Amino acid sequence: MSEPILSLDPSYLDGVVSPAQLLACAANATDAYRRLQTKNCPGSDFLGWMDLPETMHPVIPDIQSTANEIRLRDPVHVVIGIGGSYLGARCVIEALRPTFAPQPHATEIIYAGHHLSAPYAAELLAWLEKRDFSVNVISKSGTTTEPAVWFRMIKGLLAKKYGEASGMRRIIATTDAQKGTLRELANTFELKTYPVPDDVGGRYSVFTAVGLLPIAVAGIDIEQLLAGARDLRTRCLRTAFESNPVLQYAAARHLLYRAGKQVEVFANFHPHLHSLTEWLKQLFGESEGKEGRGIFPAGCDYTTDLHSVGQYVQEGLRVLFETFLVVDNSGGDVTVPSDPQDADGLNFLAGKPLEEVNRMAFEGTRIAHAEGGVPNLSWHLPALDAYHLGALLYAFEVACAVSGLLNGVNPFDQPGVEAYKKNMFALLGKPGFERRSAALRQRVSAAGRRVAF
Ligand code: PA5
Repeated sequence: MSEPILSLDPSYLDGVVSPAQLLACAANATDAYRRLQTKNCPGSDFLGWMDLPETMHPVIPDIQSTANEIRLRDPVHVVIGIGGSYLGARCVIEALRPTFAPQPHATEIIYAGHHLSAPYAAELLAWLEKRDFSVNVISKSGTTTEPAVWFRMIKGLLAKKYGEASGMRRIIATTDAQKGTLRELANTFELKTYPVPDDVGGRYSVFTAVGLLPIAVAGIDIEQLLAGARDLRTRCLRTAFESNPVLQYAAARHLLYRAGKQVEVFANFHPHLHSLTEWLKQLFGESEGKEGRGIFPAGCDYTTDLHSVGQYVQEGLRVLFETFLVVDNSGGDVTVPSDPQDADGLNFLAGKPLEEVNRMAFEGTRIAHAEGGVPNLSWHLPALDAYHLGALLYAFEVACAVSGLLNGVNPFDQPGVEAYKKNMFALLGKPGFERRSAALRQRVSAAGRRVAF
């Protein structure tokens, strides 16, 4: 057997899911995976993501050449998108790019369109005004309000800075190949575009141009990212449940949920991985939370959060399980220094690599939490690089789809996202929403009953 690409440690499911129970789930999990492969499942029109590690290969040179152009020209690149249209890129970029020591002349990546905060907008627009920048507006539907509003603001700024025509040449649109407002606009202004495949939903789109272009602009090796995903896919297809960490993870989640563990805490031990937990929250939350069921995905950054919500994890409601994201060789050649006075009593750590201290924090945490009634699973990456991260993202996509099917839902739709939008449109007076508007305004005016000092 060749080197492991990644591995799952299910040995802390203490007393909640036994190895025998896990094995008993083999047939169901394997069948769910087979149904995905044969497109015999709910949402079968959205299974294009499964083949992306293979099918994207021919598009890479074009994406790379656009990215190189941007890298050479622009000190700042703005990625406009929300949900699956920006989280994949952000999680890879933040995981693999240095936080404090950017490469000289590297293009700074800024995110916009993922909220409607006016102070953030005022600040960012003023900051961009003084810089040269380009934009990648990403929206599969081409109609999502948050990125569309941001695009309008930033397009205006580009026109003001560079003139209408030159400003437009600094825009790339990543959207549906045929339809949507953004596609129409891109056609009208002859923007450079990249398509989001019809059969790939937003949260499964990190291996399309949606994720790959911003990641390449950040200088990360997208060939390696895809290679990791491709190798993971091959192994997953060839490996039976008994040795398949992806299927075992999906099965364990299902059994934990059935045993009353309704919240999954994705926990990392590196600030670089914060956005990976955000990506996971979105992937699992939108895929599984529907029809009155599903595991609620939460995220923790340890050891930081061990000093806040860690108390809850240890002793609060016993509805939690944890999924740790562990990098076995995280690098960072730092040791704890010796101190002749030893006033803080820490000389027992002197000379120890900080990585080892962090690893013992992980070991201590998973034992304490398991003993406190929070079973856990750990994903181990041999190293944090494009190849292993690509493999991990693909593994989670498969696991999420299999989990959704095990729980009897369509993992590829998100009907619940529409509810807030309808209300927002009605309240803002969008044509076509008049009937709902009056009732909603009445409810909003009930805010007049708020209790205040
Ligand atoms: O996973 C999904 O489908 C969603 O999170 C979408 O990515 C998100 O709502 C943005 O949609 P769009 O790309 O159409 O603007």
